[in-house]
Amino acid sequence: MKKINKLAVMTSGGDSPGMNAAIRSVVRTCAYYKIECIGIYRGYQGMIEGDFTSLTARSVNNIINKGGTILKSARSDEFRTSEGRKKAHKNLIKQNIDGLVVIGGDGSFTGGVIFNKEYNFPVIGIPGTIDNDIFGTSHTLGYDTALNTAVEAIDKIRDTASSHNRLFFVEVMGRDAGFIALNAGVGAGAEEILIPEENLGLDRLLESLIKSRKSGKSSSIVVVAEGDKSGRNVFELAKYVEDNMPEYDVRVSVLGHMQRGGSPSCFDRVLASRLGVKAVEVLIDNKTNLMVGLKDNKVITTDLEEAITGGHSINNELLRVSDIMST
Ligand code: F6P
Repeated sequence: MKKINKLAVMTSGGDSPGMNAAIRSVVRTCAYYKIECIGIYRGYQGMIEGDFTSLTARSVNNIINKGGTILKSARSDEFRTSEGRKKAHKNLIKQNIDGLVVIGGDGSFTGGVIFNKEYNFPVIGIPGTIDNDIFGTSHTLGYDTALNTAVEAIDKIRDTASSHNRLFFVEVMGRDAGFIALNAGVGAGAEEILIPEENLGLDRLLESLIKSRKSGKSSSIVVVAEGDKSGRNVFELAKYVEDNMPEYDVRVSVLGHMQRGGSPSCFDRVLASRLGVKAVEVLIDNKTNLMVGLKDNKVITTDLEEAITGGHSINNELLRVSDIMST
């Protein structure tokens, strides 16, 4: 067994609420096991530039409740080149770092897998993205908080939609995944939900809205994921419905990056604390190329490559529930 003396932690890709809680957990677990901990700023870009800072248990006071990431985050084009990765590896070796914890999504894990293959450098991933599109965990960090943010916003939109008898299209985040749209949609009582995984067809959308109208509903909310399959953006969808159903007064609201910010929910804080402990303990056990995640409320590990390639599937039962609820 190789003794682990020094570990590094970084956040990479799109930020998500709970990343700070995960940094705190990694740093404090290192302190508990008397391992030195280095924070890398701006993800892989900071690794290339040697933008490092020493983190002690006290450096992470009062961050469990904070959104964003104290280590900042970035998407690095330079790390995609072998030259960039060479520089990054040199910096880790110069600092005598024995392993790396990457908090991020699939892009960040892809970088970690390539780096591990090239340099045999120990890498462990903690899934941090609001999209929840990672295989090997029921929840990614930030997803629960983003859902609550989206539901709170849609509730407010419902108030004004109902006062004015309007139809609202609300766009939520999720370029490739409909988890936020489907769950926030059901949670906020949306009449229709459009997601990237399924093309429900524009005719069906019109039919459903006509049905709603006939059944006595005077306002409606359609939740649309950023990357929904209709091939039309939220404004084009709204225009299509307006053209076909002039009786509706249509408005569009794009929730955007507000879904990535804010204080993490209790669920995300607890998840971050659990995953951070496991990530460090897995590295102490000399394991590498794994992602720590949650399954049936147990912390488990999954091969890092599988976490990226395993795919994600949408919950058909929830789609059915959504259908029945819009009656
Ligand atoms: O992956 C997280 C995410 O928030 C997606 O839901 C969204 O499509 C994308 O990032 C937005 O990326 P950016 O912050 O670069 O605009």
